[in-house]
Amino acid sequence: MKLFLDSADLDEVKKWVATGFVDGVTTNPTLMAQVGKRPRDVIPQICALVNGPVSAEVTSTHAKGMLEEAAEFIKFGPNVVIKLPLIREGLIACRELSTQNIPTNVTLCFTPAQALLAAKAGATFISPFVGRLDDVATDGMVLIDEIVTIYNNYPALSTEVLVASIRHPRQLVDAAKMGADCATLPGKIFNQLFDHPLTDRGLEQFLMAYHTASMKMEDEGGEPSE
Ligand code: G3P
Repeated sequence: MKLFLDSADLDEVKKWVATGFVDGVTTNPTLMAQVGKRPRDVIPQICALVNGPVSAEVTSTHAKGMLEEAAEFIKFGPNVVIKLPLIREGLIACRELSTQNIPTNVTLCFTPAQALLAAKAGATFISPFVGRLDDVATDGMVLIDEIVTIYNNYPALSTEVLVASIRHPRQLVDAAKMGADCATLPGKIFNQLFDHPLTDRGLEQFLMAYHTASMKMEDEGGEPSE
């Protein structure tokens, strides 16, 4: 499973890329606004930092404008991916970029039917938003299961499922169990993946036991074993 960082914050990208666990980066207009940047201000630097796909989202709502933005974005780096909203115009732009072998990430996906259309339009990635479905009392992971099942039924569809809008590590685990190709995580969620209180407590107990035994052996004149 590929793990992407969902951030436009250059410092945060640097921090998480350094862990070796980041396979790519996704951004969107909200994340850009949070750091007060436009794509041209930060995507080139992120592309240089990351050895993987970097999604930059267009803000046009018509295919012509989307394609114009895409023509600018592809200059940011060889690993840039054009992120397009899953609307009719976005799928028109997706199909055109697909014929030009320009990678795309079709975002704001909320139904399996939308995901099927995006795959037929040649999307490189589809981004279903699981957290936002949960926010409206709908099980977002059901959508992932349906998309993965549909895509697996048609091997000719090459679109990768990129699970987005993840709110907690359990959603990542369930997405991996379902066979989703990728997931994009805010830094906060990435951080949570490492931790468990029983791991911390177990390590503390191991070290306490070792140091206690070492001191006892030193008192008795022995040498602690390596
Ligand atoms: O990549 C999409 C993601 O940033 C959306 O997450 O939490 O705003 O639903 P969220």
